[in-house]
Amino acid sequence: MAASSQVLETMASQLSAVAAGLEALRVQGAEQSAANDKNAEVIAAMQQRISQHDALLTGDGPSVLSTAAPVARPQDWEVQLPQGAASSQPVSREECAAMITEALQQKINTLEHEVRMLKIRTAWTEKDLMYSQIEAAKRTLVVRNFPDWATAADRELTVAEALKENGFAYLEWDLTTTTMEGNDGKKFLAPISILTVPTYAARNKVMDTCSRAVVRYWHEIKEGEEKPKEAAQPQGDSQTSQKAPLKKWEMRTWNWNLPIKMAPGITQFERRLGAPMHGLMNAYQKLFAGFKKETLTPRWKTLILKNKEGAWLGRILYSRKAHSLTGTAGTVADWACEVQLPAEHKDRILTTWRDVWYDQLKQQISQTEVEKAAYSTAAQRTSQEYSAAARLNRFLTKAVPAYTEGEEQGIENWDHPDRQFFQDLRPVEELMAEMAADQAMEREVAAGESLITFASQGLSQGQKRQHSEGTEGTFDSMEPSGEPDNTKEPYYPFDSQDQLDQEVENEKITQINLGYDISKYSTEQWVDWVKGKKLKHLGAQEPDLPAQSAFSKDLSHRRKKGSPLCQSLRVDVDRVLATYWRGREGYRISAKEERRLDRGALQGTKPSTYGELTAAGVRLLAERWGLDDAEGVPGIFADLGCGVGKMVVQVYLECPGVGCALGVELSATRCRRAREAWEALLLSDEAFELRQRLLKASGCEEEASPEDEVEFVQGDLLDADISHVTHVYLSSLCFDEATLFASAQKLQQEGRQLRGVASLQPLPLLRKVGELLLPMSWTSGRGLGTMAYLYET
Ligand SMILES: C[S@@+](CC[C@H](N)C(=O)[O-])C[C@H]1O[C@@H](n2cnc3c(N)ncnc32)[C@H](O)[C@@H]1O
Repeated sequence: MAASSQVLETMASQLSAVAAGLEALRVQGAEQSAANDKNAEVIAAMQQRISQHDALLTGDGPSVLSTAAPVARPQDWEVQLPQGAASSQPVSREECAAMITEALQQKINTLEHEVRMLKIRTAWTEKDLMYSQIEAAKRTLVVRNFPDWATAADRELTVAEALKENGFAYLEWDLTTTTMEGNDGKKFLAPISILTVPTYAARNKVMDTCSRAVVRYWHEIKEGEEKPKEAAQPQGDSQTSQKAPLKKWEMRTWNWNLPIKMAPGITQFERRLGAPMHGLMNAYQKLFAGFKKETLTPRWKTLILKNKEGAWLGRILYSRKAHSLTGTAGTVADWACEVQLPAEHKDRILTTWRDVWYDQLKQQISQTEVEKAAYSTAAQRTSQEYSAAARLNRFLTKAVPAYTEGEEQGIENWDHPDRQFFQDLRPVEELMAEMAADQAMEREVAAGESLITFASQGLSQGQKRQHSEGTEGTFDSMEPSGEPDNTKEPYYPFDSQDQLDQEVENEKITQINLGYDISKYSTEQWVDWVKGKKLKHLGAQEPDLPAQSAFSKDLSHRRKKGSPLCQSLRVDVDRVLATYWRGREGYRISAKEERRLDRGALQGTKPSTYGELTAAGVRLLAERWGLDDAEGVPGIFADLGCGVGKMVVQVYLECPGVGCALGVELSATRCRRAREAWEALLLSDEAFELRQRLLKASGCEEEASPEDEVEFVQGDLLDADISHVTHVYLSSLCFDEATLFASAQKLQQEGRQLRGVASLQPLPLLRKVGELLLPMSWTSGRGLGTMAYLYET
């Protein structure tokens, strides 16, 4: 019994403990719910305050916001609770603040976007209006030199007769003469009248033939007055007769010493607007003092602009983009105009070009007061609605807008292809790629054209080589390259000036990528540095070059040193790339195939455009990705859009960090050339030897198996299997927006093993981790490379 009562007691005490616990929980719950209510109230109050602010922002009266798209209206925004949170759940103050900040940020972003869009729209509208004014002005003639006594009707008569006499009776025309008021309040006719004809072509004809019209006037015949013989013309028109039914009128001519003159309101401007070559020459002349005195003469056949020393200054390239629907002759709008410029001056030329263009535009649209008044009268007379005409007139005479400042203001997509309708300027890198292709083609053609020339070139090269070989082997006697040595070619120890220049460029690019300022050193210092390095590589003692020592030390500290084997391997890789790809270049493919590749691409982009990352560029990228290192799991490299596949092979032969390399190419011709070159290299066993050397040098004991480890696939990069690929290079400079986006999406979704992506145009969706300046075939000798954007997924 005692035992059972003890059990009961224990149970009772446990029950009361549970009851106490429950009570405590209830109290806690009530507190929690009070806190929740309080937080809900705070949020409601904040939302109310935000709405009040919005009401203030949008307020009464005209506002940009009130015309903005509904999505941008402040009334519509909400503070979003974090996902999964019930409205009664407590929210901390920080969370509240974060939510409100986020909502505000979203709001501000939308508003900023709207304002930007409005600015852009306004800018284009203003430009359109300027054009429309020019278009209107192109159909008008300023007619002057009427005698003071000629009335408005006399002026009309003079013009009507002149047109009739010259066979233009069929033309519809309009002559506007403004009545002005002098300081004394007296009214008089403006000295000029504005003649408007239906088209620009009609205006030219009228001007040619009617420039010296004879003055005609209406003469009232007094009673008893004899009719003069020479004025035996028909009676005045019905309008005049109606005005003065009782009077008799006749038309007379007046021997006026000063002939009537017709002149276009806008002359010079018409020609300049349609002539980019003039624009380019003007820009050069304004930009460089040297060209002010020098006459720049374009080559009219190719539209290439060179100076008197033959330096390439730019080119205007027209290509037909459509066939006219309106006639067989076609119109200017059927042609695309590309402007190619030297990369180093590109921005300055474009800015100056724009400035000169604007100056001309301003000059041309600023009329005299009299002309303005006359145009205004014409607008009022012809317009249905007077107020609209007045408004339009005010708008037209407004100052020229600085619409091109969009880029400087950081407006997104300012260079979007849609804008090319107005600008017709394509990115200079793209143009360079095309030019490089043209030049390569020219070289190929030239080489095939004349065997004699070819043979003689070979001979002279051979002679030069002999000459430099003669000095090799006596490294001890080598002069410091800072000192001129007249027994050697100025580019010694390189084989040509081009090679030397290329090496200087590569060295500068490397230093830029390392984050250094290359402008600190003179050209001579750069030349000395690369020559010294080359000599050292050739086996010379460390050349003692006092003149460059500080510079050399400075630079050599920064560079990662390649092993001697790596250096000699690179020389051999360069050699095989030059040998096995000779005659298998990617530039020339048939026009038909080119069209096929470009079909479907957005207007203004040509994905078929060819150009290459140079061997030095491949090395820079491989270094950045760490593929020059054998440590870790070997990667799989893919060049998506690989052209003739040189990069794929180079990466495979030189990078111990790469196990396999893949090339994907849309052009069947290029892909075939890539396979042919690679197969020839395999057959010669050089592919095996080089890869084997690489593996051995990096301590890998595996046997090279090049035939299994390099592949070329013909097809669209968007269809390629990239599930195992670790590194992707996209030479995307000429890809259109849609391909860029689709590529990024593909990389993000399918590139499960991806460690690095490099693209020549920025890609959306991926995480950007850096940029790298890379030397390209199209920048070689003309600039310092193209920027590659580096990503990770
Ligand atoms: C500028 S070249 C680059 C060649 C090579 N990657 C290099 O840098 O040396 C671009 C190549 O991409 C190819 N291409 C363009 N669009 C492509 C696509 N959708 N799929 C595969 N290849 C494409 C072109 O035919 C061209 O050969």
